[in-house]
Amino acid sequence: MDHRVLSRLAAPAVAALLALTTGCTGETVQGRPGASGVRDPFFPKAGNGGYQVEHYSLDLDYDPADGQLHGTAVITARAEQGLSSFNLDLSGLDVEGVWVQDEGARFNRTGNELTVRPAEDLERGEVFRTEVDYSGRPRPVTDPDGSQEGWIATPDDAGAVGVGEPVGSMAWFPGNHHPSDKATYDITVTVPKGYEAVANGELRSRTQEDDGRTVFAWHSAEPMASYLATVAVGKFKVTTGRTASGIPVYSAVARGETAGEAAIARLPEMVEWGIGRFGPYPFSATGATVLPAGTLRYALETQTRPVFSGAPGSAELVLHELAHQWFGDSVSPKSWKDMWLNEGFATYAEWLWSEDHGGPSAQQHFDAYLDGDTEVDAGAGSDWDAFPPAAPPGPKEISASPVYGRGAMVLQRVRQEVGDEKFFALVRGWAADHRHGNASTADFTAYAQQKTGHDLREVWDEWLYGKGRPKAPKTPKAPEASTTP
Ligand code: TRP
Ligand code: ZN
Repeated sequence: MDHRVLSRLAAPAVAALLALTTGCTGETVQGRPGASGVRDPFFPKAGNGGYQVEHYSLDLDYDPADGQLHGTAVITARAEQGLSSFNLDLSGLDVEGVWVQDEGARFNRTGNELTVRPAEDLERGEVFRTEVDYSGRPRPVTDPDGSQEGWIATPDDAGAVGVGEPVGSMAWFPGNHHPSDKATYDITVTVPKGYEAVANGELRSRTQEDDGRTVFAWHSAEPMASYLATVAVGKFKVTTGRTASGIPVYSAVARGETAGEAAIARLPEMVEWGIGRFGPYPFSATGATVLPAGTLRYALETQTRPVFSGAPGSAELVLHELAHQWFGDSVSPKSWKDMWLNEGFATYAEWLWSEDHGGPSAQQHFDAYLDGDTEVDAGAGSDWDAFPPAAPPGPKEISASPVYGRGAMVLQRVRQEVGDEKFFALVRGWAADHRHGNASTADFTAYAQQKTGHDLREVWDEWLYGKGRPKAPKTPKAPEASTTP
């Protein structure tokens, strides 16, 4: 019995605690099961309660020839309550063993939940280490909107990629798979001779095993939401360098995707532009991965190293995924309902890039949406007014046009109200004050009002939360405000 704990409890609590004690083993049973989800409004089973992960150390061994993955995940986490058991999210694959604090743990699986019962309860505040050994053929996960993530083989079957938005990461490693739990990562990947393995962050080492296989050790020094973790295995042409301000660049382009090399060549310049607009680049590495065309039907802002499927079709797409590094990756959503904070900002970044590079201004993009002018912006023809960006009807709509286009329109409406100076101070302040954290829509609206000193309730009511097509001032209210603080 732990008297330090008992002495702080009132008598009835002590009695209750004693009643819970099994036999005379001298152990205090103080834990209870951690929740099986964090009650995300759209993905209630995503993530788990009772602990927060500090670090993932993933050791993966993948053979593209048979699609077999062998993995060891070592997860360092802090208990936020006494835990008799806790869950990890894992989809498919065979679990061969689980250890908690180096002791064998019991486990069982239901759906995508792996429940771990450590030999001893974990105390609130305790930092504990869980090892999961697993293997099998990882599979794609299909979203409510029909898109696919998880583990996807390339069309030539000569490689694969692990991508996670929103709930695909559970298909290739066990974890607390909700953006509200961010952690640092070491991802080590062993691949057959001749293959490259690309993941997030910095490549710490690349070593050759005696049997000819290559081991790539990747390190992510800054916290990362698990949906932004990635591994790509294939035959890539690798380019390294530095941006003008010294951020290391590592880009990998699938052999044969030569147009992809040209498309991402401007990435270092875009990073510097982003720093000028949004403030310090949040990570210690940058770059991109261009997969064989047809692997995915989208690009994804995987942290430090966005993935493209075939050559990115436009500079704006590269810029969009880069802008997510500030908005989405560093400042991550608290729930999947807050997706417009990712996509509205990334879309707005495209408008700003255009404005700064001789293309239509953000205001012209905004007007194009109102007029349905697809020559100025191809997205303008979409049904951007189908629902308000802060209230998608369900998980099927988190990537629909209102989240992107109308999300960006919300930001332009704020700019119209407060003028350039306050607007850009707001954008930079938002990135700085929530750096490596999580934020909700309510956090944003409160922050915007406080930072700019403007009452923006009309913008929120009409543009962010309002149903139907908002009545919009096509001409900015106070363009002169940009010069007078
Ligand atoms: N977030 C990606 C982008 O940059 C789009 C995306 C890819 C996506 N896969 C997804 C969005 C799955 C939601 C769900 O725009
Ligand atoms: Zn995006």
